[in-house]
Amino acid sequence: MAAGVRASEPRVLVCLGALLARWVAAGLEAVVIGEVHENITLRCGNILGPRGLITWYRNDSEPVFLLSSNSSLPPAQPRFSLVNASSLHMEALSLQDEGNYTCWEVLNETRWFQVWLQVATPPPSAPQCWAELSPGLFTLQLSCRWAGGYPDPDLLWTEEPGGVVMGTSKLGVEMLNQPQLLDGKKFKCVGSHIVGPELGASCVVQIRSPSLLSEPMKTCFVGGNVTLTCEVSGAYPPAKILWLSNLTQPEVIIQPSSHHLITQSGQSSTLTIRNCSQDLDEGYYVCRAENPVGVREVDIWLSVKEPVNIGGIVGTIVSLLLLGLAIISGLLLYYSPVFCWKVGSTFRRQDMGDVMVLVDSEEEEVEEEEDAAEEEEEEASERDESPKEVTKYGHIHRVTALVNGNVDRMANGLQALQDDSSEQQSDIIQEEDRPV
Ligand SMILES: *[C@@H]1O[C@H](CO)[C@@H](O)[C@H](O)[C@H]1NC(C)=O
Ligand SMILES: *[C@@H]1O[C@H](CO)[C@@H](O)[C@H](O)[C@H]1NC(C)=O
Ligand SMILES: *[C@@H]1O[C@H](CO)[C@@H](O)[C@H](O)[C@H]1NC(C)=O
Ligand SMILES: *[C@@H]1O[C@H](CO)[C@@H](O)[C@H](O)[C@H]1NC(C)=O
Ligand SMILES: *[C@@H]1O[C@H](CO)[C@@H](O)[C@H](O)[C@H]1NC(C)=O
Ligand SMILES: *[C@@H]1O[C@H](CO)[C@@H](O)[C@H](O)[C@H]1NC(C)=O
Ligand SMILES: *[C@@H]1O[C@H](CO)[C@@H](O)[C@H](O)[C@H]1NC(C)=O
Ligand SMILES: *[C@@H]1O[C@H](CO)[C@@H](O)[C@H](O)[C@H]1NC(C)=O
Ligand SMILES: *[C@@H]1O[C@H](CO)[C@@H](O)[C@H](O)[C@H]1NC(C)=O
Repeated sequence: MAAGVRASEPRVLVCLGALLARWVAAGLEAVVIGEVHENITLRCGNILGPRGLITWYRNDSEPVFLLSSNSSLPPAQPRFSLVNASSLHMEALSLQDEGNYTCWEVLNETRWFQVWLQVATPPPSAPQCWAELSPGLFTLQLSCRWAGGYPDPDLLWTEEPGGVVMGTSKLGVEMLNQPQLLDGKKFKCVGSHIVGPELGASCVVQIRSPSLLSEPMKTCFVGGNVTLTCEVSGAYPPAKILWLSNLTQPEVIIQPSSHHLITQSGQSSTLTIRNCSQDLDEGYYVCRAENPVGVREVDIWLSVKEPVNIGGIVGTIVSLLLLGLAIISGLLLYYSPVFCWKVGSTFRRQDMGDVMVLVDSEEEEVEEEEDAAEEEEEEASERDESPKEVTKYGHIHRVTALVNGNVDRMANGLQALQDDSSEQQSDIIQEEDRPV
């Protein structure tokens, strides 16, 4: 197990050598950082030349004897030894060794030195990094933490890809500038610690602008409630969601009230409009999601409708009754030509004679086209000397009598029409085959 730790020893010793040089000049006090399982030597002051009688103590609540240069006094633990007749050498450091140490030196006079020993440990977990809005400023702040280690690791932020260095600090915080706020851009934090690992440990954040999902249309009944929902996805850091209505110009941010209820759960927001009214509430609503990387908006059209009421139902029933009556009277007219009346007569070519159009429906607008169609057919039927023709379009029943310039024969034509009821079927089929 110890062999495994020693694998990184040469590099670590270089680190420690550098750290050992960091004697703090504040009075006679020094800070030394050691490493778990490693050896360390604490110097009794920065003095060259002959030394007096040296005694090392551990200073916690009260001084505890560790070691003396008086060889008749054995060290408190075998792992303590004296180097260069003054320095305290400690083997196999443990976290419990962390603390303040004092060396007493008695020469012509008594003096003492204090050393604060700190024992470093690598952070137990991977570093964590995130992006968040910097308080106060509308910009993005990258933060990196690699907690649990001792002393604090160095945290280096780089832009990815490319590895452009943004900065190194113990705090691990970097501000992003506007040009860096690109959708999908990645940033990497590399934590390095004197205890390793050699390549450091890293984490990556990717900043992303929001995407929105919502229904394009909603309907509310007058006096009712309606809930519009808006879901944000992909936003990093999380987006701020706002509801606006653009019923007026410019758009206004909807504030929560008894009329407008706004709830947000995660990155999903709902706007509930209570007691819908056509004048106040119908129109476009805008859901806006924004983070420093981007802003997205989606429009939702809200239509406010009158609820179905008794009046409407009664109206529908009456309409249906009237339609029924119309159908019945239509049938009566069809089977009782006595009720037929002359709607009009069309001028025809002189040699064709008169045309009587007998119609039992008042749908005049259809007649124009039909007259044109009839004209063609009349030309064809002229040679056949067929004096009458029965056509049927949907529910329009039309009886056309062609009389060769003789009004007197019209009566005969009508008579023939009645007798002709058996022939109607074939005529109708003929009509249906023709494109109307
Ligand atoms: C610590 O010191 C002892 C004795 O000087 C030595 O045997 C051992 O290898 C050292 N251990 C390390 C990790 O340097
Ligand atoms: C350590 O012990 C010495 C001697 O008792 C004392 O003067 C000094 O204040 C102590 N230091 C701490 C940090 O307790
Ligand atoms: C060393 O320690 C012994 C035993 O405590 C003591 O008798 C002797 O005087 C000490 N020597 C010095 C130089 O202090
Ligand atoms: C011990 O003394 C030698 C020679 O002066 C020096 O090179 C070495 O660094 C000293 N060791 C310690 C731990 O102070
Ligand atoms: C060592 O002493 C310093 C003051 O000299 C104190 O701030 C520090 O907390 C002490 N360390 C321990 C582990 O007691
Ligand atoms: C300590 O005594 C030696 C002679 O024994 C002398 O040379 C030296 O200057 C004295 N040091 C102090 C700090 O008084
Ligand atoms: C609308 O919402 C309010 C409050 O939640 C409720 O009291 C009321 O009954 C709802 N109205 C309808 C028509 O659902
Ligand atoms: C509201 O938004 C819609 C859709 O974006 C737009 O066509 C309309 O002009 C806007 N109305 C106002 C008053 O801004
Ligand atoms: C609903 O709105 C109408 C006007 O739009 C108002 O007269 C009525 O009092 C409101 N009802 C409730 C329960 O708020």
